[in-house]
Amino acid sequence: MRKTMLVMVMVLFTSSVAFADGAAVYQKCKGCHGAEGKGLAAMAGSDLSKGLSPDAAKNLADGKGKMPAFGKSLKAEEQKEVLEYVKGLKK
Ligand code: HEC
Repeated sequence: MRKTMLVMVMVLFTSSVAFADGAAVYQKCKGCHGAEGKGLAAMAGSDLSKGLSPDAAKNLADGKGKMPAFGKSLKAEEQKEVLEYVKGLKK
């Protein structure tokens, strides 16, 4: 019984961590920003691999031009995680 509880707690813990995983959230962004963050040639501003502007977090939450707003569909934690992930793509 105690073992079962422990396993359940571990499963809950790992799945909540996976949920806030930037790489997983980034799946929603790939279509416009590309797997490596280089963006699409046809979409101005979609190259994130050269670094982010100081307004990047705001642009993610509120949208900008063709960039959809993610302030409502992503939790604050997910926005933070995905921004960290994007920064990691920077070459
Ligand atoms: C429909 C296409 C599209 C999707 C989907 C999309 N983006 Fe964007 N994104 C853009 C475009 C185009 C820009 C440039 C906007 C501009 O500057 O006019 C942009 C800009 C941004 C910026 C601002 C960069 C800066 O330096 O200010 C961030 C951050 C960003 N996107 C992250 C994301 C993340 C994270 C996701 C997924 C959760 C995502 N985008 C999904 C098209 C998209």
